[in-house]
Amino acid sequence: VFAHVVRAPEDPILGVTVAYNKDPSPIKLNLGVGAYRTEEGKPLVLNVVRKAEQILVNDSSRVKEYLPIVGLADFNKLSAKLIFGADSPAIQENRVTTVQCLSGTGSLRVGAEFLAKHYHQRTIYIPQPTWGNHPKIFAIGGLSVKTYSYYDPTTRGLNFQGLLDDLSSASSGAIVLLHACAHNPTGVDPTLEQWEQIRKLMRSRGLLPFFDSAYQGFASGSLDADAQSVRMFVADGGECLVAQSYAKNMGLYGERVGALSIVCKNADVASRVESQLKLVIRPMFSNPPIHGPSIVATILKDSNMYNEWTIELKAMADRIISMRHKLFEALRARGTPGDWSHIVKQIGMFTFTGLNSEQVVFMTKEYHIYMTSDGRISMAGLSTKTVPHLADAIHAAVTR
Ligand code: LMR
Repeated sequence: VFAHVVRAPEDPILGVTVAYNKDPSPIKLNLGVGAYRTEEGKPLVLNVVRKAEQILVNDSSRVKEYLPIVGLADFNKLSAKLIFGADSPAIQENRVTTVQCLSGTGSLRVGAEFLAKHYHQRTIYIPQPTWGNHPKIFAIGGLSVKTYSYYDPTTRGLNFQGLLDDLSSASSGAIVLLHACAHNPTGVDPTLEQWEQIRKLMRSRGLLPFFDSAYQGFASGSLDADAQSVRMFVADGGECLVAQSYAKNMGLYGERVGALSIVCKNADVASRVESQLKLVIRPMFSNPPIHGPSIVATILKDSNMYNEWTIELKAMADRIISMRHKLFEALRARGTPGDWSHIVKQIGMFTFTGLNSEQVVFMTKEYHIYMTSDGRISMAGLSTKTVPHLADAIHAAVTR
């Protein structure tokens, strides 16, 4: 009965890891998925995460019962505080509802389904380009996906005028996906002044912001600074949605820890919204897992552990920045044609190199370097030892 099923292609990002794993070459390098690696090229479990896990293991009162449909209450409160700020009026006025979801993806998906059911507009505008999973999540969640201009390949920066033009002509009331910081894949963010213009335009046109916050702490190294865009939209009293992920900033990738917050007009609306979010979650995954959010809550509620986390997070962000400088210098030393300054200007985990898909294929075939076909490289996967190999490959790809 399944003989007609056609083989689906591998995922454009996670499929890169599948191909990498099959390559027997000792010099292979995976710069596909955005996952942090140490200087030794190894995955990193933060010390503060290990500590939190130890506390959890030693607490014999802990059981493995189901969480409520909306997840761990402490985790939800602390997550809202982390993104909106401790003194957020929206939190104080109880007009934020936060539900624990399966990392960023699950949070976006639950948000999409809620919007498809309860919001008067089904169209969502996503930046062009954006994370490859965004259009799929929103389409399957019941929304109709359109794009707005974001990136200018000639400047390798923000196409701000194009963005404003597209949002000005977007259907009134439409949903707009915004990357809270460290835009994936481009590493290009609006300035605070530009954010303010985006906010004014969106509010004047009744466009509903849906933030994806997957990299809080990775853009500037400061958790508060990286939440500025979101906080601007909350400060004006309007509604918004925020999907948060702890995959990158706490290194909890496989634990699938995230949260969806919906900022409403008042506490009564927020509690009704929460009741409907439960109806989305229950048939989707019933209730979320307990281990990951317990780690996060343990860290966020203890000021010493919180500080330790910020230091470890900053160290990850700084190592990525140092990789940017090393790669830039290595290309300069090789006299590689082109202006590579975007490598140091772009922020977050990725560099959007400008390499085309043929050059990517060449680098994979000849140098065993794996990256997404749009030329995005995960700087977090690079180390001092592997920079020369990557620089050689880029040089060969652009001079062949
Ligand atoms: C990425 O863009 O590499 C990450 O967000 C991981 C993923 O799930 O695609």
